[in-house]
Amino acid sequence: MARKPLVAGNWKMNKTAAEAVSLINGLKEVASNCGDDVEIVVAPPFTALHSVKTIFDLDRVNMALGAQNMFYETEGAFTGEISPRMLQAEHCRYVILGHSERRQYFGETDEAVNRKAKVVFEHDMTPIVCCGESLETHEAEKTAEWITEQVSAAITGLLPEHAARLVIAYEPIWAIGTGKTATPDMAQEVCELIRTVVTEMFDEDIAATARILYGGSVTELNAHLFFAADDIDGALVGGAALDAQSFGKIIKAACGCG
Ligand code: PGA
Repeated sequence: MARKPLVAGNWKMNKTAAEAVSLINGLKEVASNCGDDVEIVVAPPFTALHSVKTIFDLDRVNMALGAQNMFYETEGAFTGEISPRMLQAEHCRYVILGHSERRQYFGETDEAVNRKAKVVFEHDMTPIVCCGESLETHEAEKTAEWITEQVSAAITGLLPEHAARLVIAYEPIWAIGTGKTATPDMAQEVCELIRTVVTEMFDEDIAATARILYGGSVTELNAHLFFAADDIDGALVGGAALDAQSFGKIIKAACGCG
């Protein structure tokens, strides 16, 4: 695969700062072995970002830091929100946007995801833009329309040089945390469609450099099946990213060494 694989751990609302440090300690070895071949990203909760950044700096850990959300204003009276400047100051390189849990529980809209994506790029970070259909949409065989609309809305108006750095994660909602995954063929089909949407909105070269991940019950047992697909450039991992051994094995599968 010409694009460098990316494996990102979305820790969701798990791990205190101390627990985050011990999880990172458990990943140092795999990061030093695979970190040049696979981009390894961890997205801890906000309260652990600083501790994780500190070990990354002190121990020169070959991983990148990500955040799970961000507001689009740089500062001001927005109680409870986190700004791009704050994430930049913690050396975050990635920001997950539009995760289905944020859409479902916190009312995140396509418009907000689009606005945030632009601001993330303006602050020299990269968004990991999530999309995915519900079980109902999946069963009604309306996945293609849904994904086309969701991705188009999220990336409209991006500068071409930003679009070329995009990371888009396809996460069928019915596969998140359920132990059910899309089959690798289904996931490949949707990831290929996403690349076509990027081609149509920008161009082929941009679509060829953007990275598309699969997410939804990825484990050490199934990761290699997804990584073998042409249009899948890595994974966004939830549950299995909370354990150093499991996440390490997923990283090794992307690296091709394990
Ligand atoms: P899961 O979560 O791997 O636990 O299914 C994936 C995600 O929500 O990003």
